[in-house]
Amino acid sequence: MSDAPTAWTLEERDRIAILTLDVPGERVNTLNAARIEELAVHLDRLARRNDLRGLLVVSGKPNNFIAGVDLKEVQQLFRSPDPQKADRLTARGQEVFNRFATLPFPSVAVIHGAAVGGGLELALACDYRICSLNGVTQLGLPETQIGIIPGWGGTQRLPRVAGVSKALEMITSGQSVDGRTAAAIGLVWDAVPQEGLIEEAERLLEIVAEDERWRAQRERLAGPIGLTEDQLQFIVAVAEGMLAQRVNRRHYPAPYVAVDVVRRTVNLPLAEGLAVEREAIVPLLGSPASRELVHVFFATRRVEKNPGGGIAAVEGNKVETIAVIGAGVMGSAITSVMARRGYPVILVDLNRELLDRAIERIDAIYQTLQQRGRLSSSARTQALGRIAPMTDLEAVRAADFVLEAIIEREEAKKDLFRRLSDIVRPDCVLASNTSTISISRLAEAVRHPERFAGMHFFNPAERMRLVEVIRGTQSSPQALATIAQLARSLGKTPVVVGDCAGFLVNRILVPYMLEALILLEEGVPADQLDRVAKEFGMPMGPILLHDVVGLDVALYASRVLVAAYGDRLHVPKVLEAMVQAGRLGQKNNLGFYRYRPGRTKGQHDPEVDRLLAELRGGDAAASLSDHVIEDRLFLAMLAEAVRCLEEQIVDDAEHLDMALLLGIGFPAFRGGLLRWADQLGAATVVAKLREYEPLGPRFRPPKLLEELAAGNGRFYPEG
Ligand code: NAI
Repeated sequence: MSDAPTAWTLEERDRIAILTLDVPGERVNTLNAARIEELAVHLDRLARRNDLRGLLVVSGKPNNFIAGVDLKEVQQLFRSPDPQKADRLTARGQEVFNRFATLPFPSVAVIHGAAVGGGLELALACDYRICSLNGVTQLGLPETQIGIIPGWGGTQRLPRVAGVSKALEMITSGQSVDGRTAAAIGLVWDAVPQEGLIEEAERLLEIVAEDERWRAQRERLAGPIGLTEDQLQFIVAVAEGMLAQRVNRRHYPAPYVAVDVVRRTVNLPLAEGLAVEREAIVPLLGSPASRELVHVFFATRRVEKNPGGGIAAVEGNKVETIAVIGAGVMGSAITSVMARRGYPVILVDLNRELLDRAIERIDAIYQTLQQRGRLSSSARTQALGRIAPMTDLEAVRAADFVLEAIIEREEAKKDLFRRLSDIVRPDCVLASNTSTISISRLAEAVRHPERFAGMHFFNPAERMRLVEVIRGTQSSPQALATIAQLARSLGKTPVVVGDCAGFLVNRILVPYMLEALILLEEGVPADQLDRVAKEFGMPMGPILLHDVVGLDVALYASRVLVAAYGDRLHVPKVLEAMVQAGRLGQKNNLGFYRYRPGRTKGQHDPEVDRLLAELRGGDAAASLSDHVIEDRLFLAMLAEAVRCLEEQIVDDAEHLDMALLLGIGFPAFRGGLLRWADQLGAATVVAKLREYEPLGPRFRPPKLLEELAAGNGRFYPEG
């Protein structure tokens, strides 16, 4: 072996071997080719030891077992010109892990902290697993989330220990389970308090040694699972059915491949199953989706560390008590997140009834979390206890951060900020959740505009991860850092953006939404538009999205953007006509689709066809190919995104792309809107824009794009 510091160490105590992974210089343990080779050497030596009672595999990290394979190495593998390399690494990992089952004594993986991906596969290759009950302990196989499948035995050993249904659920969703659940499903022998973990593992070795039951266990796990054809068909149908509701097979093939591998291997011995798994993973490694998903994995972490706007190194104020003003849809959802994360929140609205309704809404959010096992009943009570509903604005004196979320009227907001300026403490940072009003204009009403900025959450705020931090002309770096830091502590990802109409995300989303309405006016059917957008990978189509957002809200937002970018945008007549006809979307069951009360699945409505035909006058309805529709929708979006980069509304392509991924669900398998542009190539994008330019200046190629096209440049130089 080389002189590189070793990651694995082997000690012996009382005839028990203890193999510890502690990757030098890293916060968490990961596996890579070198660490697999080191492990192989240790396992070879151990295989010759007939004097030992057992092996414990432990981690030297305080709160982590093994966080999976080192994804940087995976990324290099994707770039490798040698296509056999992925196959060799998969084969080698499988081979080395198989050696646990050849040791002349039982092995136990002792898990505290995350044991995920390759880390859990290693633990599964041991005869037994035991884990701590601590909250940091998570066991899972998240490979499908980066576009691959578990390739070191995960698809084979997890079904053998946890059952085929549960294993498929875990593999296809990529979700981890905690220690208690792991014990309940048989994934671990037991889950115990962290303090007694090693002692319990030693006791486990004694128990299984008594009647040598570990040998029988090994034999069982090496054999086929053995399901009848009926059982198998049922389990696979359920897994595929659930999967189809969540992800599209064409965009995210990995979880479907995993189901197929399990289907084909349940009745095979382990060794044959491993060969099938290996054969299935190789084409996925380095496939376009896996490349982009791994890119997104790293981009997410980079943006999480640095929100942009030059504030990465700026220390924000310490926020201990928060006030939220306006307990409507947004104010209550935001308060629910803050209180759950431990902040005392003073929640202010005009009267008691409104506040009572807000508390009901917040508790309903908590109830859903509790039903999903993500919030305990005592945590729910504690969180509610942190909220102080108030009608008197004076109460915000106690806060060191105030978020305004009242109705979207500039004068009402300015009036509130004037009053707040007399009440708040001198170091208090103020923010507005406005989605359409200029932060620099609102700042005119704030006594200390340097302590004021935008903090724009997305609806539903309890779920959406993006928070736009809007930099007004006078906002100080410290105020921006305070907001970004707070957003992060709420589990959100902040991105600093400039103060323009629509800020970043809505400014890019609205031209796409409007293009959909222009196409509708031309006669393209609503369901074709929605289908094309979904096939591109959007979570829902733009017409349905109008109904979900509310047509009155969409109309209002469009007017704001048209006022700012009227040179290229206009409010489509159909939007005005729909709102005038009282069709507001899902909220009154009548939008571009018609809804049965309580339902969110819309039906085609001939009434809308009539309205559209009327607007078209005598013109025939256009019939456009899916291809043209996709071009028009996403080029409209892309052109506006490039203009945002040109105007430095956002730091760079990566921040822009991540904001769209987290804010509107832009498809992750494409890596981002500007990654998509890079895949097409700037010259192709410019040529396509020119083709559509006769439709209006919205398709005029932005200068930056033309420059990239001329110089063969890209938004992401590294590819
Ligand atoms: P909402 O109408 O549900 O709630 C507004 C609340 O503010 C009401 O409860 C109202 O009684 C209260 N309020 C009005 N004037 C007040 C005052 N002077 N003092 C105290 N409370 C007052 O509105 P929603 O949807 O929650 O929006 C609030 C803000 O969030 C707006 O600025 C909106 O643009 C923004 N926003 C809305 C999003 C959405 O999808 N609904 C998304 C992102 C931002």
